[in-house]
Amino acid sequence: MPQKLAVYPGTFDPVTNGHLDIVHRGLRLFDRLIVAIVTNGSKHPLFTVDERLDMLRHALKGVPNVEVDSFDGLLVDYVSQQGADAILRGLRAVSDFEYEFQMALMNRKLNKNIQTVFLMTGLRWIFISSSIIKEAACFGGDTTGLVPEYVHDRLKEKYGRSTAC
Ligand code: COA
Repeated sequence: MPQKLAVYPGTFDPVTNGHLDIVHRGLRLFDRLIVAIVTNGSKHPLFTVDERLDMLRHALKGVPNVEVDSFDGLLVDYVSQQGADAILRGLRAVSDFEYEFQMALMNRKLNKNIQTVFLMTGLRWIFISSSIIKEAACFGGDTTGLVPEYVHDRLKEKYGRSTAC
């Protein structure tokens, strides 16, 4: 039987428990997932690509059928190079919808064979984003329980060395 493969793209600066929730939900629908860091986004990430890959690999260690990767260029090109069937995205609130809708339609225009699948993030994670985690961590707030422990420690390390929030 052909295996269903999806790519879950994002900046993951850093990965949060909300992202991991989407990975676990996605694994109920797909046989395999590639969690892919997009390196050519318009954002100015705090963590390098290698650091983000390391945190994702750490967070997903031992989870079967998940790979971690990074790419630059068009998402749909990467998805078809990987032989994947779909793009997986998480939705937290209505505010995510407009941007996600626009992206999904643009991606469909660029490659009509690739479907975007949206999954609702668990309620516990609905208010978190990588930026809000970084802001809290930078001002000394406790992010325990919102990110994996390993990420929590990397955030402390990063902000321990810098005073700029
Ligand atoms: N839990 C917690 N936070 C979540 C989340 C979840 N389930 N899902 C999304 N988020 C947060 C992210 O942490 C991120 O937070 P931040 O803005 O504070 O950093 C925010 O929501 C946006 O999510 P992210 O997945 O990082 O999306 P993005 O907008 O950075 O990524 C790309 C968009 C990279 C997937 C998109 O720009 C892309 O595909 N680029 C490649 C180029 C391309 O093909 N462009 C044409 C596409 S139209």
